[in-house]
Amino acid sequence: MDVIIQKIHQLTPSIRAFELVSANGTPLPTFEAGAHIDVHLKNGLTRQYSLSNSCSERHRYVIGVLHDANSRGGSRCIHTEYHEGDLLQIGEPRNLFKIHPETKQAILFAGGIGITPILSMAYRLKSARIPFELHYFVRSHDMIAFYGNLTEHFGSNIHFHIQDQPGTGCDMSQALHQNTPDKHLYVCGPTGFMEFVTNSAIQAGWQTEQLHQEHFVAQLADTSNNEAFTIEVKGTDRQIKVLAHQTATQALIEHGFDVPISCEQGICGTCITRVIEGTPEHRDVFMTDEEHALNNQFTPCCSRAKSKKLVIEL
Ligand code: FES
Repeated sequence: MDVIIQKIHQLTPSIRAFELVSANGTPLPTFEAGAHIDVHLKNGLTRQYSLSNSCSERHRYVIGVLHDANSRGGSRCIHTEYHEGDLLQIGEPRNLFKIHPETKQAILFAGGIGITPILSMAYRLKSARIPFELHYFVRSHDMIAFYGNLTEHFGSNIHFHIQDQPGTGCDMSQALHQNTPDKHLYVCGPTGFMEFVTNSAIQAGWQTEQLHQEHFVAQLADTSNNEAFTIEVKGTDRQIKVLAHQTATQALIEHGFDVPISCEQGICGTCITRVIEGTPEHRDVFMTDEEHALNNQFTPCCSRAKSKKLVIEL
């Protein structure tokens, strides 16, 4: 759908918030806390950004975008080529990071740009009167995004942990000491940060069902031992060779097949494809271990094959 960038706010030296409103004046589709949208950029890339505002709002979506020094072209494009008043194409909200329906208490951890979905969750928990605390980790005070919103709406619930400010560190054992089964933990941020938080929680006795995390960037798989394999597309005679240096989507698109892709990192699930024969080598973080074990679908943007050939259905 088309939206207009109504306002751009410079939140930190490297993070901007974009307020998006409907281009035709109708209310925007509803969303749940933790949801993200696909943003289709003018340079042809599609990127996912979490919605940060309250899910009770229908007149706008707010996304926060980090101008990433290692940008693969997405964040650089939106920071440099889009201005207030510009039109933007987005997809409808989707949610891979939902608040568990049994949540009666919550603890939220955000690292850096990971505050974006966590902020929306905080609004939701507050409106549902679910007790929560929010721990926000940043390198320095000027890196705190949405500072005004956080202090205005969640004063006593929020704890800022600022790396260059002595005395603001987080005592994880204290923060995690209470883990009744109805308490859920939500974490979003860099991969190492999320691992640190979830490992700390497991050591403190939390169950994996209580832990929920959002992946912005997938851990890079080791591709040095990639081997070529063949894909047969059901209903065609075509045998597509996927070379060691290629992804399956690259090979399929090169041969004229239409495969929807978005994150190209195994995060979003857009490219999930049915596998009829053969054994995939799963490299995504989208599907569960149980879904991987079924071996009846795979994410061709990053996953490969353990067998010499996969027969897929497009
Ligand atoms: Fe996102 Fe494949 S394009 S998982």
